[in-house]
Amino acid sequence: MQTVSANLPLKKILISEEQIIRRVKELGAQISKDYEGKTPLFVCVLRGSAIFYAELVKNINTDCHLDFMCLCSYSGTCSSGKVRFMLDLREDIKNRHVIIVEDIIDTGTTAKYITDLLSTRGPASVELCTLLDKPSNREAAVKPRYCGFTIENEFVVGYGLDYNELYRNLPFIGVFDESKQ
Ligand code: IMP
Ligand code: MG
Repeated sequence: MQTVSANLPLKKILISEEQIIRRVKELGAQISKDYEGKTPLFVCVLRGSAIFYAELVKNINTDCHLDFMCLCSYSGTCSSGKVRFMLDLREDIKNRHVIIVEDIIDTGTTAKYITDLLSTRGPASVELCTLLDKPSNREAAVKPRYCGFTIENEFVVGYGLDYNELYRNLPFIGVFDESKQ
């Protein structure tokens, strides 16, 4: 049982490390089954999805390729509504089965931007896999094929997710408490 250190600005632990690891194993098993023989390309959307991505690909037991892209869309706890492109994939995705791995889908702006962008490059398929989904805040029409946990409209940190670049290293997902900042 994990406890919140008093000097962290958190209301509570929402999802423990054990719960995440268990769920990611299930997602890995499902994806491995769905993509058997297809050698999918897993796209890590830096920086938020890095920790989830590493855990997920360890649980893929079919041949696969890994690649990385970097986007920025957030400042503090408010979505800026704009997506900035910092780093593109190295792989040519034409005729490849692509799985975009995200930390969280909130308004959906980022996920839609990446999906639309990669779809213009002629892939065989493009699907989304997200650790967290906040469907109540959705503005863009996106629906992840694979989702770890559906959560309420609260700002969370940990397991790759940040508040102004802090707390990505926490091994669990916690609900952020702005009043303790
Ligand atoms: P969207 O474009 O509004 O769906 O936002 C997606 C991005 O916003 C994610 O990749 C995160 O970087 C960030 N984000 C959204 N909600 C949270 C949150 O609760 N905690 C930390 N980052 C978040
Ligand atoms: Mg992010």
